[in-house]
Amino acid sequence: MKDLSPKPGDLEPIETASTDEIAALQLKRVKWSLSHAYRNVGMYKKRFDDAGAHPDDLKEMGDLARFPFTFKDDLRASYPFGMRAVPLEDIARLHASSGTTGKPTVVVYTQNDIDVWSETMARSLRASGLRRGDIVHNAYGYGLFTGGLGAHQGIERLGAMVVPMGGGQTEKQVGFICDFKPTGIMVTPSYMLNILEQFENLGLDPRDTSLQVGVFGAEPWTNSMRAEIEKAFDMHAVDIYGLSEIMGPGVAMECVETKDGLHIWEDHYYPEIIDPATGEVVSEGEKGELVITTLTKDGMPMIRYRTRDLTRLRPGTARSMRRIEKITGRSDDMIILRGVNVFPTQIEEHVLSTDGLAPYFQIELFRPGPMDAMRIHVEANADSADARSREALTGKLARRVKEMVGISCEVVVNAPGGVPRSQGKAVRVVDNRPGK
Ligand code: DLL
Repeated sequence: MKDLSPKPGDLEPIETASTDEIAALQLKRVKWSLSHAYRNVGMYKKRFDDAGAHPDDLKEMGDLARFPFTFKDDLRASYPFGMRAVPLEDIARLHASSGTTGKPTVVVYTQNDIDVWSETMARSLRASGLRRGDIVHNAYGYGLFTGGLGAHQGIERLGAMVVPMGGGQTEKQVGFICDFKPTGIMVTPSYMLNILEQFENLGLDPRDTSLQVGVFGAEPWTNSMRAEIEKAFDMHAVDIYGLSEIMGPGVAMECVETKDGLHIWEDHYYPEIIDPATGEVVSEGEKGELVITTLTKDGMPMIRYRTRDLTRLRPGTARSMRRIEKITGRSDDMIILRGVNVFPTQIEEHVLSTDGLAPYFQIELFRPGPMDAMRIHVEANADSADARSREALTGKLARRVKEMVGISCEVVVNAPGGVPRSQGKAVRVVDNRPGK
């Protein structure tokens, strides 16, 4: 794999600023953000007043804990534009997430917000090793989802060339990767596996492509998945995090030279980790729910937004800003099976480390009797597709999950191609329990 480490002069000054400098900037900006939210969004004014917390009361960063949380449901309740903090004519764009139930959530941006987003996205891409002169194949979905346009504007801001592919048309994706010779690819990790399979189906060796780095995010993925993709394509795979409520992709980014967690761009997004049950800020380094406050967002400031994503905060390494540990799951995705908590990423680890299985899986929940049960659908790879090998793999994966995760489950090893393929964010859990 090519060395993509930054050279002197590649980084913005803030990326190597001292923690004191960053803290001073954050304090100044959070005061602005709290008062902007309080003055211009009815919901915040009421919530702050009810909690007895006025923006002028914030003297140090720790005082932020006195302010109330904001939840995804607050965005639903204020659908479509109720949480904006500027007149509608100052809004330049909206994005929305469909969600699985209820009303979509809408987020709005001023032109200034889009500029900040482009800058932080370009910074994220530099951290991945991409530069002006690179060609980047962007297979995140375009449209209301923030992935496609967010990545697109960052690639342009970086000065690289963007191939605005979007999701789907997997065979075409392969053709364009071969013809346009991109050095970078941006896509969900699960869809990258779909692209990988298409290379194999066409008899092409993915290690022969021009790709040097893949920037993968929008869903949880494991280090085992990283190893799988890096080996298959002979390229780096780095993690990018973000969410539409805060901005979109590029809130936090892993550096290609360290691959040790994701630096949060703390000059714009202030992170806290809380105990999801009590709402208390946990002690440093402890795992909990990530809560983010926007520091510079005009159109729709977010104060202490509950992301539901579980991680911990670590000090900076390749950059001064703090890192979040690779996200293993959302509290919403946690499966509680007979009292044991399970995340789909735990299952991913074991599917990927079982020789003979292809890297695709889906978890089905069902209720055969009084208790919930779990069935893992996987598939054999071409070399293990015969009935005997599949039978052996069934027992092997079930034993591993029992031993390592602590739950008994059914395993169905399908023939190659038997598990549905991701077209963007993978659907990891299908809930067939009555009433779900
Ligand atoms: O998924 C933004 C994005 C696009 C990020 C492209 C990275 C790349 P939403 O659709 O609002 O926005 O979904 C946000 O996706 O709260 C996490 O649960 C999950 N997520 C995003 N990135 C990661 C990641 C985009 N790197 C939700 N690892 C977040 C784990 C991730 N989960």
